[in-house]
Amino acid sequence: VASAAELKQERVKGKNVAVIDVLRATTVITTALMNGAKEIIPTEEVSTAFEIYSKYHSGEALLGGERNAVRIEGFHLANSPFEYMEDVVHHKTIILTTTNGTRALMGSLTANNIIVASFLNATAIATWLGEQDIDSTIVCAGSAEIYTLEDALCAGMIAKIMEERFGATLSDFAFTLKFLYEGYEGNIMSALTHCQHAQLLLSKGFRSDVEYCLQKDITDIIPRLNEGAITIER
Ligand code: MLT
Repeated sequence: VASAAELKQERVKGKNVAVIDVLRATTVITTALMNGAKEIIPTEEVSTAFEIYSKYHSGEALLGGERNAVRIEGFHLANSPFEYMEDVVHHKTIILTTTNGTRALMGSLTANNIIVASFLNATAIATWLGEQDIDSTIVCAGSAEIYTLEDALCAGMIAKIMEERFGATLSDFAFTLKFLYEGYEGNIMSALTHCQHAQLLLSKGFRSDVEYCLQKDITDIIPRLNEGAITIER
């Protein structure tokens, strides 16, 4: 008998895993690294984030993340990509805790490699996965353990590129998501009406965040989680 968490760890064991939380954790991680952050340390608990932060000298690290989509008390940054610009994050360690995204990352620790995917770097992620010799699993963070459309569309985009450019054999589910993505390919924004988490963010005034997170291929960096920290793999 295994817990749900153990079962998940079992499914990603020894594989290359791309973790997606389009709105907004994996987009934020990618943005922070694009803007020169030294590393991102993902944690599940707020208390662990404070503990890790206390080990840094003043000015070396920042606490970032959200609960219920807003900044956590005592944290420097929330979970909007626009807070992770170069003047704020350059050379800094970011200790990040979010409701779903950092949990999905921590739930994949038995994987061979864990890389961080979003629409911002989807083609680069598909290329990196496609070039490797071992099987890949795409983990969609979803919201409160429930499927979300925006993560599924991003997974579909990655699956499509892997199949078309690298001849990857898709699982039935990945094949389904590829078709889902093709239905929205020309206008991802039009899917938003069906995205509950996007609607929540829109209702809290985060329209520009949502639009930012749906931009495709603005970077080719591959963020990789290794020994507790996410840095640029290439
Ligand atoms: C999460 O990781 O749960 C999300 O990024 C939440 C959010 O949109 O801030």
